[in-house]
Amino acid sequence: ASNQMWGGRFAAGPDAVMEAINASIGFDKRLARQDIEGSRAHARMLADQGIITPEDFRAIDEGLLTILSEIESGRFVFSTALEDIHMNVEARLRELIGAPAGRLHTARSRNDQVATDFKLWVREQIDAAIGGLEALMRALLDQAEAGADMVMPGFTHLQTAQPVTWGHHMMAYVEMFARDRGRFRDARARMNECPLGAAALAGTSFPIDRHATARALGFDRPAANSLDAVSDRDFALEFLAAAAICATHLSRFAEELVIWSSAQFRFVTLSDRFSTGSSIMPQKKNPDAAELVRAKVGRINGALVGLLTVMKGLPLAYSKDMQEDKEQVFDAADSLMLALAAMTGMLGDMKPNPEALRAAAASGFSTATDLADWLVRELGLPFREAHHVTGALVRLAEEEGVDLPELSLADMHRIHTGIHEGVYDVLSVEKSVASRTSYGGAAPERVREQIARWRAELDGR
Ligand code: ARG
Repeated sequence: ASNQMWGGRFAAGPDAVMEAINASIGFDKRLARQDIEGSRAHARMLADQGIITPEDFRAIDEGLLTILSEIESGRFVFSTALEDIHMNVEARLRELIGAPAGRLHTARSRNDQVATDFKLWVREQIDAAIGGLEALMRALLDQAEAGADMVMPGFTHLQTAQPVTWGHHMMAYVEMFARDRGRFRDARARMNECPLGAAALAGTSFPIDRHATARALGFDRPAANSLDAVSDRDFALEFLAAAAICATHLSRFAEELVIWSSAQFRFVTLSDRFSTGSSIMPQKKNPDAAELVRAKVGRINGALVGLLTVMKGLPLAYSKDMQEDKEQVFDAADSLMLALAAMTGMLGDMKPNPEALRAAAASGFSTATDLADWLVRELGLPFREAHHVTGALVRLAEEEGVDLPELSLADMHRIHTGIHEGVYDVLSVEKSVASRTSYGGAAPERVREQIARWRAELDGR
């Protein structure tokens, strides 16, 4: 049988393989709600413009609402022969209301329809991602507040560098996730133009009102060029790019949780709720959620590169290649939302271990920089020389198997005779952290200011 939408010029129906490669209903059924929303806005506009009668509009609108409830309740029967969500909905509308169903597609094409549906879907995901990021930021702020004074080692090269605080470390991620939120917001603002009414590619001769449909669907304006409107997928690419960067941040944090929860570090305890055991090793508690969050970025990066590759080299306007846009974005969005939720859940339960954090902060000569700074400040040494003297003191401590605060004054005089009792004031990790009062520094008072700033921001104050 030839197709009921375009069968006029076809004598034969499609080959089974043609149907298999062509059909998108298996995945684009996820756009059902957006498709119906778009159709309702289009139909209302057609009626308001006198292009269809009020009676036909009422029949169409009621029929679409019936279909929506059929889909939402799982009663709707999707057909592969009908290719995609747009034709499945329209065919069902014809069954329900008869001839007026055929008027819905006036001044419209599946090309502007799918672009509109997909944009609406991506826009919702952006809003969900922003909500997920804000929940995550709040969980981080709670951790930061509880651990604003909790000393921990700061690392470079994963080697002990200088003492920082738990609060400072958590707030570093607040900054990253806030920028992620900003990228989603930017993408949303840029994409919020409505493709509907571009028709197949050139616009239409019917007196449609694209401003009205744009408004009805919550867009800021109609897309200004009909060719661009149907062939643009950069809104999806921007979403994927923002998602990939966000997933990268999540992955880095997840990696830290994996390291921190190990028996060798013992910086944190993850809850049973977000861990798994081993089927053979009874002692094991594995940070699987963190590992999976660490890994999700792989699929999301894959989706970004996948869609970039689909789009490259496509001539204007629509090509069927563009049907390959959806699965990647669906998968990336699902992965991102799950990763955000898992991270937020893990953080809500996670217990930092202050003793282990402090002990680690105090090892590895973490206050050597403080010592060098003291030599500059108190003895007037040039920094380069202070660096050298401190290096010699570190080597001495290493030889004696002690940390810097345990070196006696006599020991220190073997390296530099000017050193006096006052030096011990700067060698403790608490003193070190308290001294980092520069803007953005690790000092608890500075970190508390940042916590307050972000709390106010998130609460809209
Ligand atoms: N299923 C198609 C897609 O996802 C809808 C648009 C089809 N348009 C067309 N001219 N074949 O892209």
